[in-house]
Amino acid sequence: MTNSITLISFEHSQASAERLANALSINYTRISRHQFPDGESLVRLSLPLPRHLVIYCSLSDPNNRIIELILACDTARKKGVERITLVAPYLAYMRQDQENHPGEAVSQEIIGELLSRYIDDLITVDPHLHRVESLATNYKIDNAISLHATAPIGEYIAERYPGVTLMGPDSESEQWVSVAASIANCDYLIADKVRYGDRKVDITLPEADYQQRRILLVDDMISTGGTLITIAGLLKERGAIIEGCVVTHCLCSDDDESRIIAAGVPQILSTDSLEHHSARIPLAALLSNAIKDII
Ligand code: R5P
Repeated sequence: MTNSITLISFEHSQASAERLANALSINYTRISRHQFPDGESLVRLSLPLPRHLVIYCSLSDPNNRIIELILACDTARKKGVERITLVAPYLAYMRQDQENHPGEAVSQEIIGELLSRYIDDLITVDPHLHRVESLATNYKIDNAISLHATAPIGEYIAERYPGVTLMGPDSESEQWVSVAASIANCDYLIADKVRYGDRKVDITLPEADYQQRRILLVDDMISTGGTLITIAGLLKERGAIIEGCVVTHCLCSDDDESRIIAAGVPQILSTDSLEHHSARIPLAALLSNAIKDII
């Protein structure tokens, strides 16, 4: 057991985790992982462990990563770690926050209760908190911190896209699009979206002059790209120039990315919340400030 604080991660998040460890000036160690032929995982932590362990684990591929995270947390406790801070820039299982049809599992609540058994603090970025107001509702731990990527995104836009108009695809996006627009000192528009299925959405653009207007789409995440593809079609019909899109979490597959580009969104930019090749906007400063506030 060492007295210091250490940051650890699996290989999948190593680059972002090391950036965060550097920003905090703390040690970084990688968690070893072996996958058996049937898909089962073997996880090994390098000993000795500190009293306070920061585990960086963004939760895309959630069904695998949550199991491996639990294996790591439980092992750390058994080896004497007193405090575990989970940094999960992308937090999975946040969509299903109510029983929409009888018998549906309310995953946000169930996974929140499960992970809360293993961690003392959680720091995440732009989680899907649309009907549930606070992360603390389902994460009953010492610190359940929900950060916004609006500042790094706004600064990125200010530097590279001066004079652009930001567009959010639905009313929920106004909370972050308006802040990013004020940081980037540009206009913004908010569309209206109705979702009919995983890939099927209907979008209505707000009344505005779109002809030759430079538009940058901004959202919290790309999942299938259905939202972007639909909005891009409407913007092109109105004569807008689509510069690209900027999102906090880019979860889309290569095939979906090709479909988004073919639909007229020339580039996808995201934060490094996930290890996607569109990641250009580092979150290390945002995350390190939040960690410094609680240690
Ligand atoms: C919706 O609530 C979110 O803010 C995103 O607009 C949505 O998750 C994007 O999903 P997709 O890329 O599948 O349209």
